[in-house]
Amino acid sequence: MAKVKKALIPAAGLGTRFLPATKTIPKEMLPIVDAPIILYIVEECVRAGIEDIVLISGRGKESIERFFDRSYELEAELEKSGKTELLERIVKIRDMANVISVRQKKALGLGHAVYCGRPVIGDESFAVLLGDELMISDENTPTATEELVALYSDVGESTVAVMEVPEEDVSKYGIVDVESLGTNRYTVKDVVEKPEAGKAPSRFALPGRYVFTSDIFTYLKETKPGRNGEIQLTDAMTDLAKNQGLLAMVTQATRYDAGDKLGYLQANIELALKRPELADRLKAYLKELAGSL
Ligand code: G1P
Repeated sequence: MAKVKKALIPAAGLGTRFLPATKTIPKEMLPIVDAPIILYIVEECVRAGIEDIVLISGRGKESIERFFDRSYELEAELEKSGKTELLERIVKIRDMANVISVRQKKALGLGHAVYCGRPVIGDESFAVLLGDELMISDENTPTATEELVALYSDVGESTVAVMEVPEEDVSKYGIVDVESLGTNRYTVKDVVEKPEAGKAPSRFALPGRYVFTSDIFTYLKETKPGRNGEIQLTDAMTDLAKNQGLLAMVTQATRYDAGDKLGYLQANIELALKRPELADRLKAYLKELAGSL
């Protein structure tokens, strides 16, 4: 079976939840501590052995491409001023991945965004990572995409990450109906996009990490607008699950909803607490703050 060598990152959304910040800055470029969200996502791909990144982009997203390109002036300045560590970090980022950009000209839904990648992905299997979701794993634990790629290599079927959410949150996510195969493997029987509380087939939600065989494109091509009048990826996933097979696994990664203001703040605080240069001072500040609340 061929290795997963490409990842698709939908990044055409307008980021209305973060206006006015996102009026001129793509939401994918908002920083978590000192790195833009997109860097965490691309690093997750790289840890899974994927270096070809298909970015589904739209108007105003050019700074994402520039971020992964060479910046002559900056590199020359850092070198001149002897800021070697920073220079190394900047060089590593531009050498990290090949970013192939495809425009989604109309916002017709996530399913449509993924379909826009078809000419670049062709008949290969590929990973999909949604940028609103940060999935963090420490160095000794496989990332969510690594887990999915490993499962795919084992079974040769499309795979998807799931996480358990409380009943009151099911309406925010795609929810899967599954049958357990034991040892954290589940056959997906159905996928429902944002069901009402009380009507969900389970509490297993999709946190935005997938590995698909190219069969998904066959179904996406036929997918009609669904929930909210959008072409939903989950509808094509149901067809894929029923005809080709789709396996789910509960991811070990810690997930932050960086597309939501509170989730974004939490990600900033928790990831800053992992930074040796910030941890002690931030902890002291948080304790003092908590005492005064
Ligand atoms: C999308 C998907 C949904 C998934 C979610 C994860 O929804 O349609 O199935 O659970 O991402 O963030 P959105 O949040 O874009 O409305």
